[in-house]
Amino acid sequence: MQITKLQVNNFRNYSAQTVEFGGGANIITGKNAQGKTNLVEAITMCSVGRSSRTPRDKELIRWEQQRARILATTQKRGGKGSIEIVIDARENKRVAVNGLPVSKMGELMGNLSTVFFSPDELKIVKSSPADRRRFMDITLCQLSKTYFYLLSSYNKVLAQRNKLLKSTDTSALEIWDEQLASYGAKIARTRRHFVKKLADHASRAHAYLTDGKEDLVVEYQGVEGEEVEEIRQNMSFELIRNREKDFKNGFTNVGIQKDDILLCAAGKDIRAYGSQGQQRTVALSLKLAEISIMKDETDEYPVLLLDDVLSELDVDRQKKLLGAVKGFQTIITCTHLPSEIKSVLGDCTLFSVENGRVTRL
Ligand SMILES: Nc1ncnc2c1ncn2[C@@H]1O[C@H](COP(=O)(O)OP(=O)(O)OP(=O)(O)O)[C@@H](O)[C@H]1O
Ligand SMILES: [Mg+2]
Repeated sequence: MQITKLQVNNFRNYSAQTVEFGGGANIITGKNAQGKTNLVEAITMCSVGRSSRTPRDKELIRWEQQRARILATTQKRGGKGSIEIVIDARENKRVAVNGLPVSKMGELMGNLSTVFFSPDELKIVKSSPADRRRFMDITLCQLSKTYFYLLSSYNKVLAQRNKLLKSTDTSALEIWDEQLASYGAKIARTRRHFVKKLADHASRAHAYLTDGKEDLVVEYQGVEGEEVEEIRQNMSFELIRNREKDFKNGFTNVGIQKDDILLCAAGKDIRAYGSQGQQRTVALSLKLAEISIMKDETDEYPVLLLDDVLSELDVDRQKKLLGAVKGFQTIITCTHLPSEIKSVLGDCTLFSVENGRVTRL
């Protein structure tokens, strides 16, 4: 899968800009605060319908303007496609895929698959379980619209149940419990299955990045059970067992909103005890694994977005990373491109960005 063209109007610091990307490595260089990340953000919007930086779409509209527009042209095995996103200061965001308006965000998923990596993504390893769940969900939503809808349904039921826990009328509790266990079991099953594949690919990537010096163990931590029915029963049981606690806390203590991924490298829980460098290597391994899973599942590589990642790695890791991502489209931003990296990349498309203007070099 590729993004061949990106057009942005009144998006962040861009007034009107068209960028035509090459099929391999695309390098966007520029000083700080010129618009590198903004370009990557526009691509992410077309991929998953939301920014990786803010939940507030209106921030994306160029200051003092009313409306931002992003148009991405894509090339998939099945042919050309387009994704258009319009963010209006006074209206809801509008999304169109191949010229047709899309009312549910789930319909956007999978039209432009991306894997995004920035220094901030280190939080997948070192921050709270919520960041690891977000990592699973962003990948799985891109791979399956069903998963996206299951997750939205689950979150709605969870919100209703939490509201009920704080109220006096608890007659609907059993209905919510039943629905929570039913949606939750399907999500947990999918996540468990995903983490198994992740473990496999990530440990291989990690061995490659560390020259086999450190092993990596990745495990799903969630409601017990392998198959949907088994998980559903376990979850129903746990919901009843924790009912009193739930009422006391005013929220639900059981379910996929508590899931986590265990990450151990060299025998240590890397989430808590890893050095910054170890955590970065694990985060990178997870991202490389995400690419492999997407390729396996869809038979196409996603577009890899590397925002400001190179400067965080030593030259050896930079070379290893770029060696591993050859053969598919990658969009790399950096303030400057080290000369030894140019030789690893071979054929690539170079751009520079200055004050919201992109020039092809
Ligand atoms: N809504 C907006 N309207 C206009 N400009 C904006 C808007 N939001 C952000 N900007 C500006 O866009 C500029 C470029 O931001 P961006 O994050 O893309 O920089 P960058 O090139 O990635 O820099 P760095 O190397 O520091 O990461 C910033 O100066 C920021 O103030
Ligand atoms: Mg940036």
